[in-house]
Order: sequence, then structure tokens, then C-alpha cells
Amino acid sequence: GLYAVIPAGGSGTRLWPLSRAGHPKFLHPLTGTDASLLQATVERLDPLCGPDHVYIVTGVAHAAAVARQLAGLPEENILVEPSPRDSCAAIALAAAVIARREPEAIMGSFAADHLIADGGSFVDVIRTAMSGAEQGLLMTLGITPTRPETGYGYVQCGGVIADGSVLAVEEFKEKPSYDVAESYVKSGNYLWNAGMFVWRVDVFLAELARQQPQLAAGISRIAQAWDTAAREEVIGEVWPTLPRISVDYAVMEGAATVGRVGTVPGDFGWNDVGDFHTLGEVLTADSAGNVVVGRDALVKPGVMLRETESLVVVPNSGRLVAALGVRDLIIVDTDDAVLVCPRDRAQEVKHIVDELKESG
Ligand code: GDD
Ligand code: MG
Repeated sequence: GLYAVIPAGGSGTRLWPLSRAGHPKFLHPLTGTDASLLQATVERLDPLCGPDHVYIVTGVAHAAAVARQLAGLPEENILVEPSPRDSCAAIALAAAVIARREPEAIMGSFAADHLIADGGSFVDVIRTAMSGAEQGLLMTLGITPTRPETGYGYVQCGGVIADGSVLAVEEFKEKPSYDVAESYVKSGNYLWNAGMFVWRVDVFLAELARQQPQLAAGISRIAQAWDTAAREEVIGEVWPTLPRISVDYAVMEGAATVGRVGTVPGDFGWNDVGDFHTLGEVLTADSAGNVVVGRDALVKPGVMLRETESLVVVPNSGRLVAALGVRDLIIVDTDDAVLVCPRDRAQEVKHIVDELKESG
């Protein structure tokens, strides 16, 4: 069966003031139900693997909250990293731990903070990706691009190489410039990388050793100490020396140049919930287009919307949020900060966070 790894580390600055370093995006119920994005990610994998095969990699600051939200997971499946070293180190650690249990296990890496509307199609796509992985490919999930997004990775599709819908990937390009992204979208030949991967752990670790020998050596030292009394000491010593790089740059780009990457095109209502505007687009709106996020879980005194249109309202403080006669706004109320901004400027919220950081 499948092993699932969920690296849970990013903080999601375009979702400020809801998402904070101390309480990142994946812990929030941004799903329109009571479930957090992380909980929804684990539930979605249920048809593919039981809790015993699910691993979360997260920082010390979030380990307790993750364990609380995922009470059904064995404690030893929550892998705690002393500091963030980006996604490659996190994923490689989990791969090495799984390889100790089952050296040729098939593992999927799933982003902690995405929304997927059609869980059934998602499971079908993963099953197809698993058949590509069995043949030794590092598999990606490909999403039809709708705009020249520069925050994503792109895969250039080649011909069918296995099982009907497994396509060869000619090129993997992480976060291209706007012009390059635009040419990819126009060509019709590129898909977005959904940020989820399926591969055999031995194949991944071999590719890691080929392209990132320092990272691979560090991870292998940690894995050797895993079941010994020295585990914590070795992690503490090795982890800060690991290169800070994402798996996309570290492994996927280079693996594609030697023909080791495949993709399964998938249409499962994928959204990476990067900002409040896109969040509003995927959750169910009322007849006037207003979306109240986490309605059941969060709202105590409630939300009063009178003659409003197309609002995204995030009531997160327990206070009443009332709006009258406004449209196309984002309104986020948290205990210590309030955000109000037009929906079409949702991307710029990260600049507020940058300014706050600069001013300490
Ligand atoms: N444990 C841990 N530690 N997890 C991390 C760390 C870290 O230091 N850094 C990132 N992660 C986790 C995130 O929580 C997320 O689940 C996943 O790794 C991807 O990291 P992001 O920081 O969200 O990556 P991205 O959004 O810039 O890009 C990736 O996703 C895009 C789709 O949303 C790439 O895979 C792109 O190619 C892809 O298009
Ligand atoms: Mg992301």
C-alpha cells in the first residue's frame, strides 16, 4: 500500500492576519467545514492508506498542535524538525524513515495546505501515479494552467509512457518568470505541478544522492541513528547543516533532464489556497456571492451581512462582524489585527507582512 508524507511547514503570508508564523495556514479550518486543511488532507487519503502509513513532517513549534488535530496518528509518525530547511529536507527525512520500514515502498508527498473539491477523482489520479512510480518514475500531478502564475512549478508534457494517462515529462521548471510562464500557458503543452509527488522511496533517495549528495549524506546519518539513543543528538547536529532548498529545485528539475519524471494530468478541483480571493472562489457562496470562511467552527456571535456582494469574510476573533452596503471586499477579523482590502488586491497582502517584518 501507499505511504503518505505531508510536509507541513510554510506559513502562508498572503493569508495574514489569519495565517501567522505561530499558527500557519494548514492548521486553520479554511475548508468551509470544521476540518483544518491538514485534517482534510489526511481524511482525503483514507481510501489509499491507513493512519499507520501517514507521516507528517513539521517544526517543533507546531508539533503539539499537529498531534492534537490528528489524534488518530501514531505519535512516532509525526517527525519533528528542529528548524525549517524547506521541503526537500523534510520530504527526504520521511523517505529515509519509511525506507527503514520498507525499502521499496511507494510514497506520496502531499501538500498540507491545499483544497481539493473532488476527493474521488484525486484518489483515482493517485492510483494512476502509483503505477508510474512502480516503473521507477518520480511522478507529479499535472493541473491545466489558467493563468501565468509565477509561484508554481510547470511540467512540459511528452508522450504517453504507461498505463493510459501517465505522460513523460520533458522539462520541470520551478517558479518561472512571468514571460516564461506566459509562453508556457500559451503553448498548451505545459501543466502546473500540483506540488504533490508519488515515487518509490529507493528511487527518490537514489536521485537525491545523485543531485544533492550533501543533503542525502546528512539524511542518511539521521536515518542510521533513528532507532538509537543518539537520534536527537544526531538530528540536532546534522539538521542545521542541511541545504535550505525545495524538492522542486533540488530534485525534480534535474530528474526531468534525465527522463525520470512523469505526470498524470488531473482535474480534481485543486486550489492551493494562496490568498483570500482564491479561497473565496472555491468555497460555497450565498446567493449574493458572499463567502464566510469556517462558518461552523469559528463564528460565535456571528456575521451580519446586509446588502453586501461578493465578500470574503473571515470572523476569527469571536466578535460580531457586520458589513453593510459594500462589495468585493476581504474582511478578516482576528484577535490582534483586522484586514480590509479589495478582493482583486489579495496578492498584495504579503507586502503588509514584509513591512511588519522590516519594522520588527
Ligand atoms: N516540514 C516542512 N518544513 N515543510 C515545509 C517546509 C519546511 O521547511 N517548507 C515547505 N514545506 C511544505 C509546505 O507546508 C507545503 O506543504 C509544501 O512543503 C510545499 O511548500 P510551499 O512553500 O507551499 O511550496 P510552494 O507553494 O512555493 O511551491 C510548491 O507547490 C506549488 C503548488 O502549490 C511547488 O511544488 C510548486 O512546484 C507547486 O506548483
Ligand atoms: Mg504552497
